[in-house]
Amino acid sequence: GLAEHTSRVVAQFDFSDEELNRHVDEFLKQANAGLKQDGTSLSQIPSYVTAVPNGTEKGIYLAVDLGGTNFRVCSVSLNGDSTFNLVYNKVAIPKNLMVAKTARDLFAFLAKQIELFLREHHRDHFESAAHRRSTMSFPEGYRDEQIFRLGFTFSFPVQQLGINKGKLIRWTKGFDIPDAVGKDVCKLLQDEIDRLGLPVKVAALVNDTVGTLMARSYTSAGKHRSLLGAIFGTGTNGAYIEKTASITKPIPGEYDKSTGEMVINTEWGSFDNELNVLPSTVWDQTLDRESVNPGIQMYEKRVSGMFLGEIVRLAINDMMKDDEASLFRDTNSSYNDWSTTTNVSPQSGLLSQWGLDTAVLSVAAADNTPELSTIRQELENTLQVYTPSLEDAQAFKAVAGAVVRRAARLAAVAIGAIVLQSGKLDDPEEELIDIGVDGSLVEHYPFFRDMIYEALRAIEGIGPSGADKIRIGIAKDGSGVGAALIALIAQKMEKPGD
Ligand code: BG6
Ligand code: GLC
Repeated sequence: GLAEHTSRVVAQFDFSDEELNRHVDEFLKQANAGLKQDGTSLSQIPSYVTAVPNGTEKGIYLAVDLGGTNFRVCSVSLNGDSTFNLVYNKVAIPKNLMVAKTARDLFAFLAKQIELFLREHHRDHFESAAHRRSTMSFPEGYRDEQIFRLGFTFSFPVQQLGINKGKLIRWTKGFDIPDAVGKDVCKLLQDEIDRLGLPVKVAALVNDTVGTLMARSYTSAGKHRSLLGAIFGTGTNGAYIEKTASITKPIPGEYDKSTGEMVINTEWGSFDNELNVLPSTVWDQTLDRESVNPGIQMYEKRVSGMFLGEIVRLAINDMMKDDEASLFRDTNSSYNDWSTTTNVSPQSGLLSQWGLDTAVLSVAAADNTPELSTIRQELENTLQVYTPSLEDAQAFKAVAGAVVRRAARLAAVAIGAIVLQSGKLDDPEEELIDIGVDGSLVEHYPFFRDMIYEALRAIEGIGPSGADKIRIGIAKDGSGVGAALIALIAQKMEKPGD
């Protein structure tokens, strides 16, 4: 029957404490390998950020953010007292630009959004700059402080060559514009900004995780310096503070050596691409095979929002095909003329790749009513399943819950390993280990953080007492503020003529 079949599917997503610990060991191994040399699965990218803010930073900066659900342009006023004001516009990136023919198509669109933002929110500034250009007094009469410094949050793996220079290593999260790979993404953006004559200088290149870490440190006013900034959204990744002495691979270019530390962008989405330890159900395998980047981002494909809905969809699909499972089989279904076996519309998202949004999984987890009426409504309205039964909804909820629970326990692997790597649990001076997180999954999926905590307690070397020292807090919209902070640091490092 359906219940038994469901438990068999659910069991495939079990992730025991033993596996959890095996993963932590492997993560530490791969993390250390990445500090020693380039080209390993965990890229461990030096960010050139060598200090975190303490809340006293001040000034107005622009920030743009590409790589999450939306493209955002914002201006941030850092008030110097750990508060900030932020205005922003956001647009969804048109799907066709995610797989555009040339990088210029995408970056011209981004520059255009910056122009629209300046016209709307910084008109005076924009017009005086335009006037100067039209009267040809630019750049002579043009004061440097009238050029906005912009922090570019570009949330993809980039080989960073300096604070505002870095080459795209590979696309992730469904983007695929081969022409951009290997190019300096700051230059691609600056060129398009210059084409529009905007008074903007791309001053800093920032990964969203690095931005999140910076923002979290700024708002906690230096009280608790955060160790790690992590994203559990469309994709997943983390950036943490590492001792420069432990980074034994070469760090090209200049950076401030005085702190002895540097923020490292782990790019943990590619943890264990080799599948030494990661669980791999048939549905994980299908998802990977049918993705634009088979064989990479293997951890991300089991953990982050873009993929969890798809894993559930593939598992549910197999259950639908199986007569014994008997899922979605209302004999009165009006869809039966299409298929005599299920009552799912041929147009249902359940039947097309990426058709099941991870947001639906959040709805399923949140519904604890005896009749599961919210889930049944969601199945009916969003996924076009004709009159789903209580048993159908129970099966869906169980499978969805199992996939996300595995994801949360895998998320604890990365967090736990970074905490262990830092050695801070053994340091009596550190009462609290702060971790800033952002992203739609951790923000909207009910109890995602609690599931992470539960797993952290089961990690050897952390245990319940260690887990109690770890504070995971949301750093909402962190990367706008974070990018502004890094643009500020970059500006301070600028030399005349830069
Ligand atoms: C946003 C940050 O809040 O969260 C982005 O500003 C980040 O930089 C994003 O990429 C991640 O979440 P999602 O769910 O939009 O991918
Ligand atoms: C992907 C990107 C990474 C980013 C993460 C979260 O893993 O490769 O750079 O930080 O998504 O947005």
